Amino acid sequence: MSASSVSSRSINQVPVSTTIKSICCIGAGYVGGPTMAVIADRCPAVQVTVVDLNADRIAAWNDPDLSQLPVYEPGLDVVVGRARGRNLHFSTAVEEAIAAADLVFISVNTPTKTKGLGAGQASDLKWVEASARTVARAAQGHTIVVEKSTLPVRTAAVIQEILEAAEGRGEQKTFSMLSNPEFLAEGTAIPDLEAPDRVLIGGQDPEAIEALSAIYRQWVPAERILTTNLWSSELSKLTANAFLAQRISSINGIAALCEATGADVREVARAVGADSRIGAKFLQAGPGFGGSCFQKDILNLVYLCRHYGLEEVAAYWEQVVALNSWQQHRIARLVVTKLFGTVTGKRLAVLGFAFKADTNDTRESPAIQICQDLLEEGAQLVIVDPKVSEAQITKDLGQGSLGDVNPGGWQMASSAAEAAAGADAVLLLTEWAEFGALDWDGIAAVMRQPAWLFDARALLDPEIFHSANATIKLWMIGKG
Ligand code: UDX
Ligand code: ADP
Repeated sequence: MSASSVSSRSINQVPVSTTIKSICCIGAGYVGGPTMAVIADRCPAVQVTVVDLNADRIAAWNDPDLSQLPVYEPGLDVVVGRARGRNLHFSTAVEEAIAAADLVFISVNTPTKTKGLGAGQASDLKWVEASARTVARAAQGHTIVVEKSTLPVRTAAVIQEILEAAEGRGEQKTFSMLSNPEFLAEGTAIPDLEAPDRVLIGGQDPEAIEALSAIYRQWVPAERILTTNLWSSELSKLTANAFLAQRISSINGIAALCEATGADVREVARAVGADSRIGAKFLQAGPGFGGSCFQKDILNLVYLCRHYGLEEVAAYWEQVVALNSWQQHRIARLVVTKLFGTVTGKRLAVLGFAFKADTNDTRESPAIQICQDLLEEGAQLVIVDPKVSEAQITKDLGQGSLGDVNPGGWQMASSAAEAAAGADAVLLLTEWAEFGALDWDGIAAVMRQPAWLFDARALLDPEIFHSANATIKLWMIGKG
């Protein structure tokens, strides 16, 4: 590629020539890993090094067997296979990679704080701050620092202050700060990165913006690269996620009303989505949204609104999260009610644990809350997921039997038929395509009667299902 060769102005106004030949990304997670793999693939002349403090994660990224990458994303293995060792590197040598880089992405985790000021709402920025301090210490010459993690508005100011302090010490280092939020969705990360709806770059330094734009222009049409100031860029990411999550809570609320009234939420979604002002996407009713972003970003927005005294706006967005949580509990309650008011000691097959199909990520997965509610009711769960490991489910749910705290227990199975053997119900919680193509006659034959299927994703076609499976009672989200 023709790497950008421009003059860049730093925070303290020293003009420096910047040619992006070397990129470092701090954080080898669900965002950093796939994003850097695509940048390296599309910009073969740029050296891209992804660093992480977690040595096991880096080892997995370097595993010669591409099926062992720590992040499961369709197509990621092919992209990594093409670029790794050529201009894509994974390393634990954080400072070394920063020192060699013209541009550093910060792509570390920013979970919601669990303690202290803003607990339950504000993001914990300790990993961002630590990364900024490492960049301030290790960088050499002029470095463009790009915030990639989803962050509360004005986080760039925190990073900038730390970097400016390093400049102020009179060392031969200068920085430019940009915000470049990532809009990829897990499960479709590679196509989202290869053909994004837009790339957003926020910042004050036109030369730094141009340098990063030039990287993206290697494969993204120039008209899709939007530039804004830093704060608009940060707020746009929170707003986009809040709007998307709001659509899901809206359709999930209507799903409950459909079940009560005899309407079918899929028909309602089709009719409503046909209005071009509304659009057909993101109207799929389900067990509630999960993933690392939606809830965290809305809570950040709520925190921000409260901080600025906008109580009504805060309450408005907070309700999107409240409805999502209600939806998860509602599904667990409904299962108990249909199974004669008790699931104590009953075997329930759980199909899918990831927060959506085509990912091994379980962060905020609705399956976690639904399973926890059923465990509290004493159920014996048998869980199947094509990509989620038993170790991860143990982290999310705790040990198989929780004794006094939790009378229920759980175990894994390797197939839906194995999980369903002797079960009173099957709960379909993640829309993996393979769950839509199961042999339900075979499954019905091994279940205890009366047997139920709770399709919380509306994955199955009820007409086809009923004609083939008179022996399983079907409950479907938004239809009843
Ligand atoms: C989201 C945003 O889409 C992405 O732009 C941002 O960068 C990160 O957050 P992600 O969380 O990976 O991406 O997946 P997404 O496809 O948005 O799904 C989020 C949750 O909403 C999942 O649990 C999914 O099952 C659920 N969902 C999505 C629905 O229940 N119904 C829908 O119609 C769409
Ligand atoms: P995301 O979904 O935003 O990519 P992940 O939790 O999957 O979040 O990845 C974030 C990664 O950042 C983790 O692998 C974590 O070890 C790494 N990380 C956090 N802080 C630092 C740091 N100071 N230096 C290097 N890596 C870090």
